[in-house]
Amino acid sequence: MSLDHKLFNGKTLAILSGGGDTPAINSSIEAVRNRASILGYKVYGIRQGWKGLLGDGQVVNLSCQPYNGLYGGTALNSSRTNPFSSKTGEDRVQQILRNLERYKIDVLVTIGGDDTNGAAKKLYETQGIPVIGFPKTIDNDLRTRTMHNYGGKEIEAVVCPGFPTAARTVARLTGMLRTTTESHNRVMVMEVMGRDAGWLTATAAHGGADMILVPECPMTKERQEYFYERVKELYMRNPKRCLVIAVAEGVRWYDENTGKTDVVYASSETDEYGHARLGGISGVIAHEVSKRLGLDARAQISGYYARAGECREYDRRLTATLGDKVVDLLLREDYGQMPVLNKVACYNELEEFNTSSIDMGSIGNIPLSENYYDSNMFHVTDAYRDFLNHIMEPMHFMKFDYDFPVVLPK
Ligand code: F6P
Repeated sequence: MSLDHKLFNGKTLAILSGGGDTPAINSSIEAVRNRASILGYKVYGIRQGWKGLLGDGQVVNLSCQPYNGLYGGTALNSSRTNPFSSKTGEDRVQQILRNLERYKIDVLVTIGGDDTNGAAKKLYETQGIPVIGFPKTIDNDLRTRTMHNYGGKEIEAVVCPGFPTAARTVARLTGMLRTTTESHNRVMVMEVMGRDAGWLTATAAHGGADMILVPECPMTKERQEYFYERVKELYMRNPKRCLVIAVAEGVRWYDENTGKTDVVYASSETDEYGHARLGGISGVIAHEVSKRLGLDARAQISGYYARAGECREYDRRLTATLGDKVVDLLLREDYGQMPVLNKVACYNELEEFNTSSIDMGSIGNIPLSENYYDSNMFHVTDAYRDFLNHIMEPMHFMKFDYDFPVVLPK
């Protein structure tokens, strides 16, 4: 079979994926590849994010190749390579420009979060490279100006490809932990990715978490005291004497040894965008709960499970819908833009007319809104539950409420 599409009209579009993977990147690549092909573009893939445009380049042809968008992760691989990193001393921008010229790439579609798309926008602004961004992150913290209408109130929200699938995984893992937690009358502290944002951890509500801690509310000394009280109260109130707590990896925790309230790092090394690796807060909290309250507490890090596995239905359709908007941007040659949802939509409303595009330069991060988190209850609000109901199907966990009669010795 010829590698050139029958409608190929001489333009070449290349796709790259950068940053942490999600279950929906292949679906995004497939959506963009298919639509761009129909428009007559030859479609290339750049391997390993921006890294694939350095040196001699790592470019593959995606035109007329079988592609499985249901398969999670990214078949183009990913990296946290920053074209503007000052760490290396090399002129990466010149290498990128040279490779775009060598491979005759006319348009670049960058699937990524704030880092990848921020770099793309800078290349567009400073070098005139035609770029279109495509949102991606399980952290769901890109400011896409997507509005959620809850009871007549407009709340600023986000629905990033990858997040709905990750949300379901987190909810499912939370629900699964219940049985082992019950069996041992324990407090289980489950840690969830998400960096500085609590969007993903808050989805544990859908899996029945009893308490949820998000980075938006630092656990200061005073707040910790209140937290212990609440743990004890909820634990004792539960007839099965157990508690499942979801904690975001980015929660800042008061350390009585240092007197500081800070995040727990898994490693102090930073990537090329300046991010250190977070991890370990669940262990700290479980230890403190045992020490302070005398309860048997354990830590469980859900970690990369949130990013793993197949792309689910909502994300499939979301990536297709945003792919439709890419067509619009390509036809209008409207570069430096990223397609987004206008409003939080349920599956049936995922349509191109519910999308628009935003300037890639003004993306930025958005924390979990106060409308979605009740800091007194250490839990999500009804508004957040409504948000989740739009993007996730209800979850069913088996129930077993027992109260066996006690047998006394004869
Ligand atoms: O940004 C996505 C994310 O999964 C974060 O939630 C997490 O902190 C980070 O990436 C982990 O990155 P890495 O794959 O480099 O360990």
